[in-house]
Amino acid sequence: TPVTSIQLNVEALKNSIKIDNKQDFDYFLEKITFDSERLQKISSDIENVHALESGIINLFLEEFSIDDFIIESKKIIDTLLDAKQIKLEINKKNKFNKIIIDRNLFMTIFENIISNSIRYCEKGSSIEIDLSKRKNELEIIFKDYGAGVSEKDLPHIFERFYRADGLRDDKHSGLGLSIVKHIVELHKGKIYAKSLLGEGLSIYIKIPQ
Ligand SMILES: Nc1ncnc2c1ncn2[C@@H]1O[C@H](COP(=O)(O)OP(=O)(O)O)[C@@H](O)[C@H]1O
Ligand SMILES: [Mg+2]
Repeated sequence: TPVTSIQLNVEALKNSIKIDNKQDFDYFLEKITFDSERLQKISSDIENVHALESGIINLFLEEFSIDDFIIESKKIIDTLLDAKQIKLEINKKNKFNKIIIDRNLFMTIFENIISNSIRYCEKGSSIEIDLSKRKNELEIIFKDYGAGVSEKDLPHIFERFYRADGLRDDKHSGLGLSIVKHIVELHKGKIYAKSLLGEGLSIYIKIPQ
């Protein structure tokens, strides 16, 4: 766990001071920083899950312009995209102006889905977000061209703590998509995913309007 890892690295750090090894000191300090960020992310995810599950979070529905929403989410996503030079396309698929959603909770959805895409995509790859509104329903499709999810893993990706094999040793808690699903359900919406291993993942969200 990150805690054990921090404890071990703190011991190593103390030792590196004792023997006056600057290189080791920097190395262990960096590991401790990494682990504490990871712990921070995990506890904030757990807090979110708790708040959503216990009903502490109330939906705050607002009607506002889809175009403003696109501009705002682009701003947030762009800061995430920089490091990996990933291209983002947001497309409005038909003509509509107003949407009704909880803006803050939707930003959390975007952040979680996009940060996954960035993580499982190669440098320089692209992400698409398609928005459309039909018959009192807003549909949002997030599509990436990254690693994708196997048939075996796909039915489980929205479960708490579920992670595809071999992904246990970094900042991610396995809670991101379960938080996303919760938020969609608070909106009385639906969410599902389609994927082919090696060809990317698409997530479909439908929100009644
Ligand atoms: N865009 C994606 N491409 C490939 N696999 C994904 C993608 N998004 C999610 N996954 C898979 O679904 C799992 C659950 O995602 P999530 O709940 O966000 O947890 P985390 O990001 O902490 O691993 C991930 O561990 C990964 O196996
Ligand atoms: Mg995630």
